Amino acid sequence: MEARRRVALLAALALTVALAATAAEGYNITKILGEYPEYSQFNKLLTETRLAADINKRRTITVLAVSNGDMGGLAASGRTLQTKRHMLQMHVLVDYYGGKKLHQLAHGVTACSTMFQESGAAQGMSGYVNITQRRGGKVTFTAENAEDSSSPSTYVKTVKEIPYDLAVLQVDSVLASPEAEAPVAAPAPVNITELLSKKYCKSFAGLLAADAEAFSNINATKDNGLTLFCPVDSAVAAFMPKYKNLTAKGRTAILLFHAVPDYYSLQLLESNSGKVSTLATSNVAKKDYSFDADKDGDTASLDTKVGKVASVTATVKDDDPLAVYAISKFLQPKELYKVAKDLAPAPAPAGPKKKTTKKKPSAASSPSDDDDESADSPDTSDEDAADKDNAAAPSVLAGWVTTAAAATVAVLALAA
Ligand SMILES: *[C@@H]1O[C@H](CO)[C@@H](O)[C@H](O)[C@H]1NC(C)=O
Ligand SMILES: *[C@@H]1O[C@H](CO)[C@@H](O)[C@H](O)[C@H]1NC(C)=O
Ligand SMILES: *[C@@H]1O[C@H](CO)[C@@H](O)[C@H](O)[C@H]1NC(C)=O
Ligand SMILES: *[C@@H]1O[C@H](CO)[C@@H](O)[C@H](O)[C@H]1NC(C)=O
Ligand SMILES: *[C@@H]1O[C@H](CO)[C@@H](O)[C@H](O)[C@H]1NC(C)=O
Repeated sequence: MEARRRVALLAALALTVALAATAAEGYNITKILGEYPEYSQFNKLLTETRLAADINKRRTITVLAVSNGDMGGLAASGRTLQTKRHMLQMHVLVDYYGGKKLHQLAHGVTACSTMFQESGAAQGMSGYVNITQRRGGKVTFTAENAEDSSSPSTYVKTVKEIPYDLAVLQVDSVLASPEAEAPVAAPAPVNITELLSKKYCKSFAGLLAADAEAFSNINATKDNGLTLFCPVDSAVAAFMPKYKNLTAKGRTAILLFHAVPDYYSLQLLESNSGKVSTLATSNVAKKDYSFDADKDGDTASLDTKVGKVASVTATVKDDDPLAVYAISKFLQPKELYKVAKDLAPAPAPAGPKKKTTKKKPSAASSPSDDDDESADSPDTSDEDAADKDNAAAPSVLAGWVTTAAAATVAVLALAA
């Protein structure tokens, strides 16, 4: 009785999680603005400053777009991308203002926080925007502490509304803000090899340095949003026999598989709960090369569906646009290794309470088989694939149960 109720509760929670995931399925600001050639410069800058990616990750926001002819200070060539990013962040209000809500402001004026305020670079209240209703239905936007001499930006029209997730409004000029316009130096160059070698990932740094194509790809992406997962030295050592077996192309692919061309703080990673594409996705034609990133207790887990789930063990660097995390396992893409047989979401035989099954030492494994990567990974040659599948089953099932349990915890936390 008790067990059945638990199952029902878990099913309900799983459904909630599924629904939440559907609702969060995103929009693409680049695509939305792409339908309007008059905002092409603004749109291009959103991509160049990587703000587009940040916008797509958010809900309940309002983007104040300006047309090509009104780009003003945003078009200036003397500003670094970092400065332009701050200026653009002033144009992203972290609340939903559809045209209707805009014209029904309770007191005719309201202050709204922006992404600039959230960036941590804004002094005091400088990242707030005053929205003011004027005579004749006119609505203006002013940086909270803009100079008196600066003229406000006026609402022109609503470009797009996805209630209550995203509103895109056109304003007639760039929002003036001395703080956002303050020059920001380009970040100091990062030496990836040095960074990885110093903390946890010396071996992986060596593999990268030895592969010119993988290295140059990763090095070229690090300033435009990159999250790199470096297996710790022991994980590389355990994987080396398999790595040596790969072709040159395979090695490049598996190294690029560890790099996600987008910046993820640990918090973003944990709340991601879904697929992430990698540099291998864009560099190896017609292959998926993605994996699942999810929350796992107080860290993030990475699941490629091959072998054990890897978890983030340490943060090597977290400084937007570059994040580097040490992980417990070498990531094996399903494109190169055999995936564990699909275990349909049938309830675990032992009931939803069951959390983990400690991997029992397999009777089949020889005493010399101390490499746990090869001991439980269902890849290698076909003749022993069936056995390996069976061996991998309990750990994958345990992984599924753990994920469901983690999701349950997340939902309960939300409900609390
Ligand atoms: C968003 O849309 C643009 C233009 O259609 C496309 O190039 C880009 O890949 C899309 N981004 C995502 C994350 O889907
Ligand atoms: C914005 O609103 C606040 C509070 O209403 C006010 O103190 C401030 O002077 C306003 N700023 C501008 C530039 O109008
Ligand atoms: C980066 O660091 C490595 C190891 O410290 C060094 O060998 C290499 O020359 C450095 N590269 C650059 C471009 O400075
Ligand atoms: C890595 O990228 C930086 C620019 O961020 C560049 O100066 C450096 O030469 C690159 N290193 C290598 C080895 O290509
Ligand atoms: C490497 O490849 C050989 C030949 O296919 C195979 O016999 C061996 O088991 C492989 N080693 C590993 C560690 O996968």
